[in-house]
Amino acid sequence: MVKLSVQTAFAENTFLKPSLLEYYETLPAYQSPHVSLVEGIKQRAREEMVPIISDDVFCFLSQLVLTKSPKRILEVGVGGCYSTLAMLENFNGDDFISLEVSDQAIMKAMELRDEYDVLKQAQFVFCNALDYLAEAPKESFDLIFVDIQKKHYETILKYSEEWLSPRGLIVFDNLFFSGHVCGTAETDKGQERKSEIIRRFNENFLSCEFLTTAIYPIGDGLGFGVKRP
Ligand SMILES: C[S@@+](CC[C@H](N)C(=O)[O-])C[C@H]1O[C@@H](n2cnc3c(N)ncnc32)[C@H](O)[C@@H]1O
Repeated sequence: MVKLSVQTAFAENTFLKPSLLEYYETLPAYQSPHVSLVEGIKQRAREEMVPIISDDVFCFLSQLVLTKSPKRILEVGVGGCYSTLAMLENFNGDDFISLEVSDQAIMKAMELRDEYDVLKQAQFVFCNALDYLAEAPKESFDLIFVDIQKKHYETILKYSEEWLSPRGLIVFDNLFFSGHVCGTAETDKGQERKSEIIRRFNENFLSCEFLTTAIYPIGDGLGFGVKRP
């Protein structure tokens, strides 16, 4: 049985104190009904270094969909399909659109969709998310989950004003950038440049006028915005 615990896919990303993490690990954890798919996704993530969301973000997204019952979901960045699975396992809506710029990632996602019924509702779109959001007819999404290059977060935040339905949710992953944003992890020049971009984004996100926002210490820092009605 696969259990999804608070431990992150890449353990160093956790912000819990080791003693608390140790205790947490002893507690019963969320169990996905899609055991073999979870195992396959995680194994590939380990072997091919495919970045995926952490287990606590998985549980959060899965429960978010269960509570909010979104009719339309937009996923920005398919990657290893782990967040796709998290949002689809309780999805009972109409449209689930998932954007991905890598042909390898999209082909693997399509293979998984052929194999696993739970992924059947995903419409995988091979595109640059920024082009899609700029050019496709405006749609209204109840939930947008964003997990791509951080330099694009600012643009996606701007687009979300038009693309989100009233009280729609937008969730951004990795806003703590594994601790680099505040120097708790060893940071090289490239990471420092990215940290600067994320710090600026975090400030803009938290003072965004069309959303109520918060950043939660879930996974690698999860930004959560609700569109003001
Ligand atoms: C961190 S991974 C996503 C992981 C995914 N959330 C999961 O849990 O499996 C980021 C993905 O976003 C894709 N990506 C990066 N920039 C993009 C863009 N501009 N448009 C669409 N996809 C993009 C990358 O190719 C990569 O597969």
